[in-house]
Amino acid sequence: MIPTLDDLDVRGARVFVRVDFNVPLRDGAVADATRIDAALPTLRELLDAGATLVLASHLGRPKGPSDDARLAPVADALAARLGRDVRYQPTDGPGSDAQRAFVADAPDGSVTLLENTRFDDREKGNDPGLARIFAEYASVYVDDAFGAAHRAHASTHGVAELLPGAVGRLMERELSVLSRLTDAPDTPFSVILGGAKVSDKIGVIERLLPRIDRLFVGGAMAYTFLAARGGAVGDSLVEPDRYDVARDLLERAAAQGTTLYLPDDSRCAAALEADAEVSVHPSDAIPAGLKGLDAGPDAIRAWRDALAGSRTVFWNGPLGVFEVPPFDTATREIAQVVADLDAFTVVGGGDSVAAVNAVGVADAIDHVSTGGGASLAFLEGEPLPGVEVLRRT
Ligand code: 3PG
Repeated sequence: MIPTLDDLDVRGARVFVRVDFNVPLRDGAVADATRIDAALPTLRELLDAGATLVLASHLGRPKGPSDDARLAPVADALAARLGRDVRYQPTDGPGSDAQRAFVADAPDGSVTLLENTRFDDREKGNDPGLARIFAEYASVYVDDAFGAAHRAHASTHGVAELLPGAVGRLMERELSVLSRLTDAPDTPFSVILGGAKVSDKIGVIERLLPRIDRLFVGGAMAYTFLAARGGAVGDSLVEPDRYDVARDLLERAAAQGTTLYLPDDSRCAAALEADAEVSVHPSDAIPAGLKGLDAGPDAIRAWRDALAGSRTVFWNGPLGVFEVPPFDTATREIAQVVADLDAFTVVGGGDSVAAVNAVGVADAIDHVSTGGGASLAFLEGEPLPGVEVLRRT
């Protein structure tokens, strides 16, 4: 069993809470606070129970201390949301003498946010020495960092071996929603996968295929499937070394009655530029010199019709090059389509979540996952080290 906050007594305790505050920053401020908001129920519950909080998170993938990866903007955003002071001190890294003194001075009932855990290489190496320092900061461990649960790092794994611990409310909800997809989804079960590479999604397709009724494949990886089937995809991004895998999946899907949808048409351009001349072509007849950069209007119309009647929908990954308009069009449109469905809907992954937020339909989605890589790892059946370390028999 995986302990939750219900299994912990935190009255008067110092609690080390691993959160995933790996949020996008713009102009020195938090640009999207979804992950901070998602952790608030756990933080409030612990504070209401009389705990003193020491929060730890990574931000980005810095190589050592760096000013643009400091957690100062996160501390400000968190303080505004909690309506209370958040203690934060820029340091060169977790476990520094300055940080140890700062944590030791934390008043009872306060909230302290540690500096970016990845300023210290020992974090990613799951170093036992760093884990011991983290364990000295508290007497109890809570992991609410679902987005980082697939990483075995000192703050997600090593420290959890040293303290009594539990998952927080966000982690608990993520695991329960995603288990519903792997165990017993209401059918018809539709899965929409996008993104650049077949290799990133192959695990999840393999694992879920027996349960999926309708599988929609978009993004650049669709061109690998189309090319493997003999289509002309122009200069679109393809993975020739994955043609066999793609063909095998097409065959297996057909054999077991999963309907696999590829985009009928594509928005194409000669180069990936915002002001590029865009033309629409059948996805399996893209002229040489052009790349498919987004699913086209016929594709979205067909997918809207085919998604109708689904009872469960999971979507991960953009259907085009979301960060370069107008190639974000299909991703935005599918966000609206998914939101309008009368189904249990789950969306995960950075660009898909960004699209749901940009279109303003997050409230109409049953669960917007805070984990991209973590949700895929879970759905692939990979054990999540951050969760498994807490499991009690
Ligand atoms: C994420 O953004 O998916 C998580 O915060 C994990 O980040 P990472 O891929 O840099 O470990």
